[in-house]
Amino acid sequence: MKDRAARAIAECRRIAAMSEEPGRTTRRFLTPPMRDVHALLRTRMEALCMTARIDAAGNLRGLWQPQNAQGKRLILGSHIDTVPDAGPFDGVLGVTLALEWIELAKELNLPLPIEIVAFSEEEGVRFGVPFLGSRAVAGRFDLALLALRDAEGVTVEAAIRAFGLDPAQIPAAALDANVLAFVEIHIEQGPVLESEDLHVAAVSAIVGQTRISLEFAGQANHAGTTPMHLRRDALVGAAEWIGAVEAIALQTDGLVATTGKIEVAPNAGNVIPGSARVSLDVRHAHDAARKAAATELLAKAKSIADRRKLGLEITQQLDQPAVPMDERLTAFLAEAIESAGLPARFMPSGAGHDAMVMAARLPTAMLFVRSPGGISHHPSESVREEDVEAALHAGREFLKRLAAESR
Ligand code: GLV
Ligand code: MN
Ligand code: MN
Repeated sequence: MKDRAARAIAECRRIAAMSEEPGRTTRRFLTPPMRDVHALLRTRMEALCMTARIDAAGNLRGLWQPQNAQGKRLILGSHIDTVPDAGPFDGVLGVTLALEWIELAKELNLPLPIEIVAFSEEEGVRFGVPFLGSRAVAGRFDLALLALRDAEGVTVEAAIRAFGLDPAQIPAAALDANVLAFVEIHIEQGPVLESEDLHVAAVSAIVGQTRISLEFAGQANHAGTTPMHLRRDALVGAAEWIGAVEAIALQTDGLVATTGKIEVAPNAGNVIPGSARVSLDVRHAHDAARKAAATELLAKAKSIADRRKLGLEITQQLDQPAVPMDERLTAFLAEAIESAGLPARFMPSGAGHDAMVMAARLPTAMLFVRSPGGISHHPSESVREEDVEAALHAGREFLKRLAAESR
């Protein structure tokens, strides 16, 4: 298992070099480096005698159909897009480990068919809306998403065509009925397992998320000639609101709220900002608390904009409820963790995952692997080989049990 763990890690590091930017990892939906990732994973899949294809949403799909195949297939996978200046393991480890799980299934001569999906988009970085890949696989891709535009004005539809794919075929990317379950392996991206000295955990539920884009609109004007009391500065309005977001989140138990992106126009040192577009990401384990917080934060933005005589445009990008993992499949995964000689720990996920979307379509479970230092969405994101090995031992037990059960 040590060799397999080392290979899964080394592949993530190789894939991290496939980037839109030299010297750091940034790989958004269907950008050119995605082709290199597909080529590497396809080579691995074909060496395992899997059949590989790319669906119309840009997901790389590999089918392992053993000669003694029986029953419905298990779906394994995670995403291969990244945030800007990302680490090597968020998403990608779930794909390289899925390949190792297939190696194990093959070694054990299990009759279980397995499909790996390397989802094309989960982070929502390029178009503001996440899960473009898994929505298509789960049969929940609203074709209105094709009109979304990235910062350069390219639509989702044009990005799909530019990659050589046909957006009209997206409905055909949806899973057929012959599927058993979905399992996503992912790094924890937080400090809990490290604090408890645990290798892995089964995810109980994934918290909900709201994503909103707000544009404060003022009047761009000369920075030297316009007295302070006669300005309508969009950025100062946005800045006041960002401070309020932190204050409100600090007062609300369990709430996290983040402004991670600001676009200022015209973005020049001697011009009063005429426009400030800011992002809002709000999460809470309870949907009612998340929605109430989002409403309060937007009301605050409105009152700041009114007082400062600024325009305010609000665009909701995501209202994703919290999603429980399938109880039976998760218990099954926990039993597998125990049979691998490890304590079974259940924990919620504060990060979003393709599993949230897949759970609406079929029984879904997630296996978390410890994140050293709790660091993620940062180039220093890492994994320990012993934890990846633990995920392989648990996977071996899980596949054996699932194959026996689904026969
Ligand atoms: C994905 O990484 C998210 O939780 O935003
Ligand atoms: Mn991520
Ligand atoms: Mn991820």
